[in-house]
Amino acid sequence: MNVLVTGGAGYIGSHTAVELIHAGHKVIVADDLSNAKAEVIDRIETITGTRPAFYPIDCKDKAALDAVFAEHKIDAVIHFAAFKAVGESVQKPLAYYRNNLDSALTLLEVMEKFGCRKFIFSSSATVYGPDNPYPYKEEMPAVKSTSPYGQTKVMIERIIADYVAANPDFCAVLLRYFNPIGAHESGLLGDDPNGIPNNLMPYIGRVAAGKLEKLTIFGNDYPTPDGTCRRDYLHVVDLAVGHLKALEFAKDKTGVEAVNLGTGNGVSVLELVSAFQDANNIKIPYVFGPRRDGDLPAFWADAEKAKTLLGWEAQYSVEDMCRSAWNFAKNA
Ligand code: UD1
Repeated sequence: MNVLVTGGAGYIGSHTAVELIHAGHKVIVADDLSNAKAEVIDRIETITGTRPAFYPIDCKDKAALDAVFAEHKIDAVIHFAAFKAVGESVQKPLAYYRNNLDSALTLLEVMEKFGCRKFIFSSSATVYGPDNPYPYKEEMPAVKSTSPYGQTKVMIERIIADYVAANPDFCAVLLRYFNPIGAHESGLLGDDPNGIPNNLMPYIGRVAAGKLEKLTIFGNDYPTPDGTCRRDYLHVVDLAVGHLKALEFAKDKTGVEAVNLGTGNGVSVLELVSAFQDANNIKIPYVFGPRRDGDLPAFWADAEKAKTLLGWEAQYSVEDMCRSAWNFAKNA
């Protein structure tokens, strides 16, 4: 298939582009490089031997998207491009709603114009919000997130479901990611955010590299076995393969499906720090700080639906995630 990957120079998008190319698909990347580097396209080529077509465009730019669809016969779209910093979204809600909603709407309109009917959407476990018990199951209400960022995911899921209801020949898969970490085994692709990382693993990587002095663990008084938050960490390459499976599923189906992509296991912040130290033989200095606003004590996926519907199951261990994350961070 000819697959348009928006946000294809980003962390998850670049790993997905690699898996798509390995599987024989033709990849067209659209990325405005607002939080990614153009050299990622070179790296995708180094890894796969194939250079994806690349358009440095904003998905809110309808004319630019139109030109991409006019040039390539796009069979499916995987939509990653979005703002994703939870804290920043609380400070700048309008920017988040404008960017994330407008990109998704513009993309769907251009897809409609060109008769493209396969859509894989980058959603998040945050759509389950604070009220559902874990493990999270897809049939639980996904209507209230704790941040404007998360709320854009809730709203776009709804927009897509309404669009599919009106267009029964369309197929959309809403992939609800848990906590992707780790990096490509080549060490060429990984999570390399601009500025000080918000997320745990890139922060640990910068501490390991000596670029940041110590990790602050946000809260050790949670109602969990060691007092720190528990999350469902999964390897980004597993996550990328999940997109490939979703695409294969969508190929000859119609309708909309929400699917969790997680391992089904909870790991605490302290356990992850300790796994990183053991896997890489590096000490990570840390201190305990106050809880971070909006953090939930614990959640993980019920991973059954991905298995039965898509034939996908996470393969990599926490040790693999930690080793590959450091293999990338030490050269980033
Ligand atoms: C968050 C978002 C999620 C988003 C994901 C990736 C929420 C509730 N979660 O997940 O929607 O998809 O980021 O952008 O909106 N931690 C520390 N010290 C640090 C950094 C993190 O202790 O310096 C802890 C956090 O308190 C948390 C865990 O590490 O318990 C994981 O944090 P993080 O990597 O930011 O992911 P989430 O908050 O789970």
